[in-house]
This record gives sequence, C-alpha cells and structure tokens, in this order.
Amino acid sequence: MKAPKVAKVTTHVLHEMKLRGEKISMLTAYDYSMAKILDQTGIDVLLVGDSASNIMAGHKTTLPITLNEMIYHASSVTRGAKRALVVVDLPFGTYQGNSIEALSSAIRIMKESSADAVKLEGGSEIIESVERIISAGIPVMGHLGLTPQSIHKFGTYKVRATDDDEAEKLLSDAKLLSEKGCFSIVLEKIPANLAEKVTKTIKIPVIGIGAGNKVDGQVLVLHDMLGITQKFSPRFLRRYHNLDDEIRLAVEAYIGDVKNMEFPNEKEQY
Ligand code: KIV
Repeated sequence: MKAPKVAKVTTHVLHEMKLRGEKISMLTAYDYSMAKILDQTGIDVLLVGDSASNIMAGHKTTLPITLNEMIYHASSVTRGAKRALVVVDLPFGTYQGNSIEALSSAIRIMKESSADAVKLEGGSEIIESVERIISAGIPVMGHLGLTPQSIHKFGTYKVRATDDDEAEKLLSDAKLLSEKGCFSIVLEKIPANLAEKVTKTIKIPVIGIGAGNKVDGQVLVLHDMLGITQKFSPRFLRRYHNLDDEIRLAVEAYIGDVKNMEFPNEKEQY
C-alpha cells in the first residue's frame, strides 16, 4: 500500500505505518536549526533525547540533565519542526517512584515546549507513572533494553537481555507498556531476535537502536550518525558522514584567511 503524504506525523500515523509495514525513521534533535533541516528531509520522528546531557552539555551520562534544560531543548526543536512528531525524554529523577510528580513533569514538557509526546525509560517499575500520564491525554513512548538512566545499576553499556530471565522480563514489560496505552516503544541494544519477537507480539510500533532490522523503525543519535562525535563507536552505529573533519577543515580555512588578511575581501566589506 502506498503511503499517503501527511502534513503532520501523529501517533496515529505511526500506528498506520506499522500496519502497512512502512518503516519509521527517527533521529535525535536538540536545537531549532537542526530540527528545521531534519524536518524538511521528511524524517518521521524527532526525539529530544536526554542524550542532550552528553551531546550538548558534555556530561558523562544522561543523569545530570534537568527538566528545565529538557524543556529549553524541546521548545527550540518544536519551533523548527512542523511535520515530524516531536517526542521528549522525561529526565532522570522526574518520574520514577512518584506518579504525581511524573504527571506534573510531563505536563510541564507538553505545556512549555509544545511537544507531541514524552518518553520514559523502564517497564513494570514505572507503570503507575506511565498510566497516570496517559490518563491525562499525553502520549507516552516506552524505552526498554539498555536504558541509559540506569547505567549505574547496569555498570556497563553492553548489550542487554542476552539471558533468558532478562529477555522474558523485557518481553513482559513490552506487553505491559502496550496494554497500558503507550503508542510506541524504543528497544535499545538487545539481541535482534528478541527485538523481532517483541515487534511481532505487540501491536504498537517498535523503534530499534542496536536491535536489528526486524523492528518497525530505527533511531540514531544525530551527532553520532553525522560523525560529529568520534569516540563513540558501537557496532550498531552507521556513520553517514564525517562532519568532525569537515568542520575542522572549514574552521582552519577561516583561521588561515583571518591571519593572512584574506578575509574579508573587498566585496565582503562596506
Ligand atoms: O536520549 C536518547 O538519545 C535516546 C535514544 C538513544 C533512543 O533515548
């Protein structure tokens, strides 16, 4: 079936894409200028990920980023994105353990950034928060597998759910999130055959990162796929460009022109 062109991607559009077998493309975005470019390419979903903590702020983990900082990034992205569905991560410490606080965090994101949906990490442990947020009419995307906000519990960024117990828990969490009304789930860094099983079992779209290609869509961190970040090189990451090199070359050329008084030239002055 041919995909109808949509003016705005909604959670309903993503559901229909899954039914048609049309793959969903998703990338992270943290600012207005990038969001505008990405939106015009036809990307389906923009994720204002808490990876902004690493990528934009230079922290070692995603834990330090605050709700106010996420709202700042999210409102910049929504000003640039007209078509893509904009999903925003609830940051660490704003939804675990207290569903009322979770709802108030989600409401702040929706009200102050004009985002379309929020994303939460975890399964049964946070299900009360998920239910309460959805009951207020806010679409929720789940996130299972390697959930970076739990890095201190895991102790490593290695692939998750390789043993039967963790795989079983992940599948049951995915079913639970789907039953409770999540519109989609991200599966991060898990075996491809487990991701395929989850995708076939639940009715909502499954977006993978390091989860093979038998899922309903893919997400990457923009700065990783553009080659702006250099040290992060997991097996699942495909680099589509080497922007680190290109930026250095451009800036070095500029420095040279300034030092040699070749910039600005006569046409570039008043
Ligand atoms: O924060 C983020 O960028 C994410 C993606 C890696 C899925 O959650």
